[in-house]
Amino acid sequence: MKILHVVGARPNFMKVAPVEAALARRAGVDQTIVHTGQHYDAAMSDVFFRQLGIPAPDFNLEVGSGSHAAQTAEIMVRIEKVILDVRPDLVLVYGDVNSTVAAALVCAKLLVPIGHVEAGLRSFDRTMPEEVNRVLTDRVADLLFTPSSDGNENLVREGVAPERIHLVGNVMIDTLVRLLPQAVPPPYPDKGYALATLHRPSNVDDPEGLGAIIGALNRIAAGIDIVFPVHPRTRQMLGQIGGLELSGRLHLVDPAGYLEFLGLQRHAAFIVTDSGGIQEESTYLGVPCLTVRENTERPITVTVGSNILVGRDMARLEAEARKILAGEAKSGSVPPLWDGKAGERIAALVAGGAQK
Ligand code: UD1
Repeated sequence: MKILHVVGARPNFMKVAPVEAALARRAGVDQTIVHTGQHYDAAMSDVFFRQLGIPAPDFNLEVGSGSHAAQTAEIMVRIEKVILDVRPDLVLVYGDVNSTVAAALVCAKLLVPIGHVEAGLRSFDRTMPEEVNRVLTDRVADLLFTPSSDGNENLVREGVAPERIHLVGNVMIDTLVRLLPQAVPPPYPDKGYALATLHRPSNVDDPEGLGAIIGALNRIAAGIDIVFPVHPRTRQMLGQIGGLELSGRLHLVDPAGYLEFLGLQRHAAFIVTDSGGIQEESTYLGVPCLTVRENTERPITVTVGSNILVGRDMARLEAEARKILAGEAKSGSVPPLWDGKAGERIAALVAGGAQK
């Protein structure tokens, strides 16, 4: 059985690792990894392959950056040739990035079966490019692997046949569980700092909005040091804000590797983010998370986990940070099936239970 994995952007890499590893333990499975090249910087890509132990990609399509149309189209054109060449029995796509939807559309037209890992998540906000990618990918996928039961409910509501939907748990948490013992301890005292990340277009593409968030972080930094690994997109935008003033306690650093970032999350007093994956990882770690978004496609991190949606309301962000500093942090628990075995469940479903 030939299985081809498509990855392209940073959040895909933690998801493919456990699925590839579980399939590699099965006889008769031949795997191919395609990296679209959507993320290409060493700090956004290579370091993850190395630290996560993912085999080097068999194909790198080197598409690079571009508008959504240009990037998606370029991935489609280049991946079609690979699919025709390899002729896989199943293509696995991950998450909600442009590489995911591009590969899914190509496979649907070539009648190659598609499995979507992290299916069913919905923010119900079509202004998010990822929401469009999620809806379209699920529409054409044959096997839909969901991380939580809200995913199943969303898919059934959209008319997906229940027998195609499999609740397998959270593959990103598989990687976290495996690598937590190797997390690099941060060079800051335990709980003596907060961690921030921002990269969503809705937060960083408008200089005024980004300036307002930085202003709030500056004020929060009066009470605690903040470590802020800066995504390339955010770095570009920060460069365009004139007269930007940063608190001496707001530390802008380069994007971190997986093991370094895991250490930073684990020991943070709290996290401020707009990332999807970090909402999940902080829930697993039980670290309070303040999410600077109006909605989330991962509602279980709010209903069960330690996540709070503060929206784009900076006064609320500052108030919630103050509460945490005053010892009134939200606690949470770990959602069902976020147990380190999701990759194994996917492998059993696509390639059977027998292991080498
Ligand atoms: C993409 C995903 C987003 C995910 C994020 C994680 C889509 C629609 N969005 O957003 O869901 O949360 O990745 O990081 O697929 N750049 C570099 N080096 C790189 C990659 C990007 O400098 O290695 C810069 C480029 O200038 C590029 C910009 O970052 O234009 C944005 O990159 P892009 O891949 O378009 O989207 P992300 O914002 O990273």
